[in-house]
Amino acid sequence: MSETLREALRAWYEEEGRRFVWRETQDPYQIWIAETFLQQTQIAQVEQRLLTFLARYPTLKALVEAEESEVLRLWQGLGYYQRVHNLLRAAQALWHQGGWASIAKSADPLKALLTLPGIGPYTARAILSFAGWGAYLPVDGNVARILSRLWGDPTPLSQRHYYQKKADALPESWRQPWVAFALMDLARLVCLPRRPRCKICPLHAECQAFHSGKPTQFPAPRLTKTKPIQQWIFLIYATSEAVWLERRPAKGLWGGLWCLPSERPAQPLPSPPVFRHAFSHFQLWGYIKSLPAPLPSTNPVAWSELERYALPAPIRRLLQRLAFSPSSFTAELFRP
Ligand code: ADE
Repeated sequence: MSETLREALRAWYEEEGRRFVWRETQDPYQIWIAETFLQQTQIAQVEQRLLTFLARYPTLKALVEAEESEVLRLWQGLGYYQRVHNLLRAAQALWHQGGWASIAKSADPLKALLTLPGIGPYTARAILSFAGWGAYLPVDGNVARILSRLWGDPTPLSQRHYYQKKADALPESWRQPWVAFALMDLARLVCLPRRPRCKICPLHAECQAFHSGKPTQFPAPRLTKTKPIQQWIFLIYATSEAVWLERRPAKGLWGGLWCLPSERPAQPLPSPPVFRHAFSHFQLWGYIKSLPAPLPSTNPVAWSELERYALPAPIRRLLQRLAFSPSSFTAELFRP
């Protein structure tokens, strides 16, 4: 990875790179929030939500004082609600240990950040690098794909720590924030997973995958496992005015969100579900069953108030279907 190659990357980034506001800041708090939003989510989908969030909680102190339910409301629809829970726990822990100054002063800031809930190897390096506190190239899946191709290394992307370790050993000139930004943009616009646009790539001169003639063979595909299916029955009691919901426990799936109470069927249900929803480790198949009376764990929520509550996206969609057609929901949606 020569100086010439780095200059080619810089020239490309100056022409084609994106100027996101969160790339302009060196405030570790704002970087942390931005990276939490951007993990596993498309930029276009989060850009406005992220700016709204940062306007509402512009500092660590503001987040420490936040109500979890309101934070969840700003987050809803983005999935991975455990991230919000971790974000708030990490904010509290960081605040009580003396805020960002405690990280800056620590003998090993990377290690100090890694002790906080939800901050992993990528996010910790992104915060330190982009805030100007250390020279790191944080490796996400996209950056790992570029490195795999550049080095002609077929190691699957599931071995993220392997790529991160190699990136940590790069010369310091490759461990600058702009290099990470440039590689992220290159991965999205040029070094595409299935159809890499090698001819226009600023890195092709030194790219082993390009020279092999078979760039898409790098990295080797990860072993795919089909996700197991979990069937859940959602129990509904509703009137024309309200629907009865319960708040889920803070920890675990959809932690802290408002939801229809649910149960697992004693025997597998043979019919297709009313809706499907993919989690990282399993597929949820949702069914619904009508209740003759509300469960004690539930509270009535007026249909007109529903949007003020943080709900899992598929449950909100389901309730919207019901609210639009209350008379038909028995016929249309009830299966088991
Ligand atoms: N700029 C800074 N962090 C980013 C990320 N995680 N994804 C895309 N662009 C970014």
